Amino acid sequence: MGVTVWLTGLPSSGKSTLASALAERLARTRRVQVLDGDAIRRDLFPELGFSKDDRAENVRRTGLLARLLAGHGAVVITPVIAPYRAARDAVRKDHEAHGLRYLEVFVDAAPEVCAERDVKGLYARAKRGEITGLTGFDDPYEAPLQPDLHLRTDRLSVAECLDRVAALVTGAESR
Ligand SMILES: Nc1ncnc2c1ncn2[C@@H]1O[C@H](COP(=O)(O)OP(=O)(O)OP(=O)(O)O)[C@@H](O)[C@H]1O
Ligand SMILES: [Mg+2]
Repeated sequence: MGVTVWLTGLPSSGKSTLASALAERLARTRRVQVLDGDAIRRDLFPELGFSKDDRAENVRRTGLLARLLAGHGAVVITPVIAPYRAARDAVRKDHEAHGLRYLEVFVDAAPEVCAERDVKGLYARAKRGEITGLTGFDDPYEAPLQPDLHLRTDRLSVAECLDRVAALVTGAESR
């Protein structure tokens, strides 16, 4: 049965890094699709911005796409910030209503660590006042209350995080 693995967390917390590594590992034995927030927004929903409504709509549409693919037996990996709890919960509900699994992984690092990594330079731009509405800086991030897995990427190596998330998927498949 298909499954969606949603990697939620602050910018630069490690979502895309873990998604690529997980996809590479699982692709040996499974059909895998990564829906990375950046590419999906740019290529499929370019009209969506970063208002509260647009962020929620981005998660709703990405969740729907993930559910459709999971319905064909794929492991769908979504490294997407998804800052709002209600929007994530709705994706879980939609999966479960279709008999599909939704695994939420909280990719967590202290905001200071994320700002230090600053893979895309967004925190620096926000600090300089060049952009506003950056999640975790001046826009809210609602951390998962009961994630299926909580990864502290500021304490664990990429390899350790990868092992844990791969074990989560394998465990869910065997249930
Ligand atoms: N345990 C870890 N897991 C994941 N990434 C880690 C870990 N430790 C250090 N890193 C580093 O943190 C950075 C995370 O960047 P990445 O692009 O994956 O973040 P992101 O969450 O996808 O950000 P964005 O929301 O902006 O797309 C990478 O440079 C990665 O090498
Ligand atoms: Mg990313």
